[in-house]
Amino acid sequence: MAQLIVALDVPDKDRALALARELRGIVPWCKVGLELFTLAGPSVLEALNTLGYKVFLDLKMYDIPNTVGRAVLAAALAGVDMLTLHCQGGERMCATARESLSAAPGAPPLLFGVTALTSFMSGEMPGIDAQPADFALALALKAQEWRLDGIVCSGREAAKIKAACPRLRCLCPGIRLSGSAAGDQRRVVTPAEAVAEGVDFLVVGRPIVASSSPANAVRQILAEMTI
Ligand code: C5P
Repeated sequence: MAQLIVALDVPDKDRALALARELRGIVPWCKVGLELFTLAGPSVLEALNTLGYKVFLDLKMYDIPNTVGRAVLAAALAGVDMLTLHCQGGERMCATARESLSAAPGAPPLLFGVTALTSFMSGEMPGIDAQPADFALALALKAQEWRLDGIVCSGREAAKIKAACPRLRCLCPGIRLSGSAAGDQRRVVTPAEAVAEGVDFLVVGRPIVASSSPANAVRQILAEMTI
């Protein structure tokens, strides 16, 4: 069954935690991304764990294998349940990330590989001629071979990727209720479309965070997910 993740994309730790308290018991997962982690650091991960959330650290790691392996272990020790690294970091980087988790106590975090960002449309990926959907599928096949737990892609690509890579879970941002602003996202789907595509995790930021009632926005998304 698909699960909703709220992206706490706010410029202030207190605001992030106030939002998390408001949505406690309605959403199982919170996402901490570049903005919040840069300003609040690991203490926000601990605070979210204490509130009972599963924590997704979305730093989209991309570096040499040793650096990424050590950062992945640091995230595991900080109590993260899921994290992202770029598939484009290649086989050795992904393998080192996986191996580093053998030193982590308890259940290791799920490793998700970023394929083609949902903000990319055709012709926008630097140095890559392929269509985003084809590129995402090619990287998903690699991610499966490299034993990642899942990949990040657009909901538009999830069904095809899951058919080709049955062991992978799909995590999809770029989720928009019909009629709501896409912002910088390009390959968007509605919550109902995402569920119909077989998406496992829906990541939603602005439609919740920028709403005058984040709890109502979450309820509307959850209702659409069950249609
Ligand atoms: O506000 P919005 O719903 O577009 O937020 C989507 C979230 O998912 C953001 O936090 C963004 O960093 C993240 N994300 C994404 N595309 C990816 C991976 C993560 O939009 N490929």
